Amino acid sequence: MFEHIPPFAGDPILSLNEDFQKDPRPNKINLSIGIYFDDAGRIPVMDSVKQAEQMVVAKGGPKPYLPIEGAANLRAAVQQLLFGADHEAVRSGRIATIQSVGSSGGLKIGADFIATWFKGSQVWVSDPTWDNHRSMFEGAGLTVNTYPYYDPATGGLKFAQMLATLRGLPSRSIVLLHACCHNPTGVDPTRAQWDELIPVLRERQLIPYLDLAYQGFGDGIEADAYAARALATAGVSFFIANSFSKSMSVYGERCGALSVVCPSAREAALVLGQMKFTVRRNYSSPPIHGGQIVATVLTDPALRQSWEVELGAMRERILAMRKKLHAVLSAKVPGRNFDYFLTQRGMFSYTGMTIAQVDTLRETHGVYMVRSGRICVAGLNSSNVEATAVAMAAVLAG
Ligand code: LMR
Repeated sequence: MFEHIPPFAGDPILSLNEDFQKDPRPNKINLSIGIYFDDAGRIPVMDSVKQAEQMVVAKGGPKPYLPIEGAANLRAAVQQLLFGADHEAVRSGRIATIQSVGSSGGLKIGADFIATWFKGSQVWVSDPTWDNHRSMFEGAGLTVNTYPYYDPATGGLKFAQMLATLRGLPSRSIVLLHACCHNPTGVDPTRAQWDELIPVLRERQLIPYLDLAYQGFGDGIEADAYAARALATAGVSFFIANSFSKSMSVYGERCGALSVVCPSAREAALVLGQMKFTVRRNYSSPPIHGGQIVATVLTDPALRQSWEVELGAMRERILAMRKKLHAVLSAKVPGRNFDYFLTQRGMFSYTGMTIAQVDTLRETHGVYMVRSGRICVAGLNSSNVEATAVAMAAVLAG
């Protein structure tokens, strides 16, 4: 019955993380998956999140199905986090938000929605992007293309080529953009570049689809929302999927949201209705528990404040690891410029290492990174950063 089914080829990120868990070497180093580890190499339980969970559990009560669109308190808190409570788009009710199963769940609901209601549209993603972006949009039946983004020569952005490509796209093309902390490269547009990009998106009537999975890991919670807020202010209609997996260290709770910023409250109601229809046909309604933890952290003033401090410390630790990696590599490989580790933002950096070098690092030194050369800088800590840099230097020296 099932002989015709080919074996699963594995996932470039999740399967690698599984291989790491099976590796018996005691000094192995995991820079593969996008998870924040603390300086002791553990996934942190944030104090604000722990307290919020205790409050949710203490409240008790029955566990009915949530509404299809998710919990109202979480949906409102998400809008305020993304856009600011006073943003005109929030106040005028022209944003349709659903609670989603992680931001992946939100991305896929949005992709299904687009496949139904924007039939002629194709999707454009950055070259490169998170592998699962392509899979999700293709899985929804959409054609996925790329626009120029990462410049291997500089470790920066091919901004002029990116703009030129976007200028040439048919109207209503879907343009997937990383709102901050680009995955996999760590290369983000500057504010000035967003300010140049947004009028092009508006004038060409393109439909931006923002992925905001790392809010708070770039330059701060507010700063990382710059693109979302500027797009909403400019009157652009767009999608934004956001995640709490990393920013609250609640990966397995699968908590995120999908918001669609619309021209009017009337259109937002139409969009919300069809997003509900899409959710109902997929998984009916989202789970309660994680969403209520997140809503409690966001809305309880004391917990909110301590969450911001905790997240700030995580961001600072990543920056410290960037500096240390840069310093050791620069000392060990004098002819090569590693400044991109300092300018790239968030959990990820593109090391510029080839597939063969990545394989040698894993096989010979037990350092795991995605074969594209992406490292999760948040997997570095004061006990392994030196060893990582030494191993990378050895492999780069050939
Ligand atoms: C990553 O890029 O490593 C994370 O977003 C985890 C995932 O689901 O791929």
